[in-house]
Amino acid sequence: EPKPVIFSGMQPSSDSLQLGNYIGALTQWTKMQEDYDAIYCVVNLHALTSAQGEGDLAERTRRTAAQYIAGGIDPEKSTLFVQSHVPAHTELAWVLNTITGFGEASRMTQFKDKSQKGGIDAANVGLFTYPMLMAADILLYDAAFVPVGEDQRQHVELTRDLATRFNSRFGKTFVLPQAQIPKTVAKIYDLQNPTAKMSKSAESEAGLIKVLDPANVTKKKIMRAVTDDGAEIRFDREAKPGVSNLMTILSVLGERTLDSIEAEFEGKGYGHLKQAVAEVVDETLTPVRERTEELMADPAELDRLLARGADRANEIAQRKLAEVYDALGI
Ligand code: ADP
Ligand code: NA
Repeated sequence: EPKPVIFSGMQPSSDSLQLGNYIGALTQWTKMQEDYDAIYCVVNLHALTSAQGEGDLAERTRRTAAQYIAGGIDPEKSTLFVQSHVPAHTELAWVLNTITGFGEASRMTQFKDKSQKGGIDAANVGLFTYPMLMAADILLYDAAFVPVGEDQRQHVELTRDLATRFNSRFGKTFVLPQAQIPKTVAKIYDLQNPTAKMSKSAESEAGLIKVLDPANVTKKKIMRAVTDDGAEIRFDREAKPGVSNLMTILSVLGERTLDSIEAEFEGKGYGHLKQAVAEVVDETLTPVRERTEELMADPAELDRLLARGADRANEIAQRKLAEVYDALGI
């Protein structure tokens, strides 16, 4: 009985993941690799649409992969590879471009958001065709599920539409994928602005817990986290977003209930809570950081792991692409 395939990609858009990525994505993907045939891709071609020339992309690509392995993705269990190592992604993306409506692509809210930021003349065409490359990423592997954030739901819907269209015009070729957006996964907020989600692309890093930062830097940020009026340690997203965020972090990483945290800190000040959060974050991230540095210290070995992932991915992707070309008669 083959396991269902899941595909997920991550952009090498930063030198370090943030705690939200660790909790919201990486630990989920690590769990999922047990029950699914998991394909995890560092999508460096997608990163070209926004991160061109920002530092060393090869280095960031390795560092992203290293953090995933350090955080629990096992390259023996999962297929972990770099997008540009598998040319079928761009080849299938081209085919999908030719069956996508211009209006359909124009309706993608992420394109609208990103192109509006700098003005349409500053946007590159890659930003426009991004969803078709993402569709190719998914469809090449017959992925049944795509674990993503809410912001990617529309792209997965487009992927389904394109798969359905191709199948009906050219014969059944693609599996229809489904977005898998876990409802129960905690959302982590910015320490300085606890109503906004923690994000790599935050304007200031003061509220960002970076996986690869030294422990003392992270501790300082946690001790300076914005709290709320009053002194009570109580979970209340509306009235006490800062305290609630710290409690969430302690609850998820410490594997304990919010009730037990409220009970432990009854009558104690925010400083005690922050201290406990700093400790659990340190216990969690220090091994990830150390393992990442080990992997980065041996780039040849890391490249070998990624090349093996690419071999596996190429085998599957080439087969699917051949089917597509057959169906198209080219
Ligand atoms: P970022 O905003 O840091 O660039 P992405 O939008 O690229 O993060 O998200 C990558 C993955 O990490 C997604 O699966 C998303 O759900 C998860 N994720 C990102 N930020 C958070 C957060 N603050 N809390 C929980 N999960 C998050
Ligand atoms: Na992002």
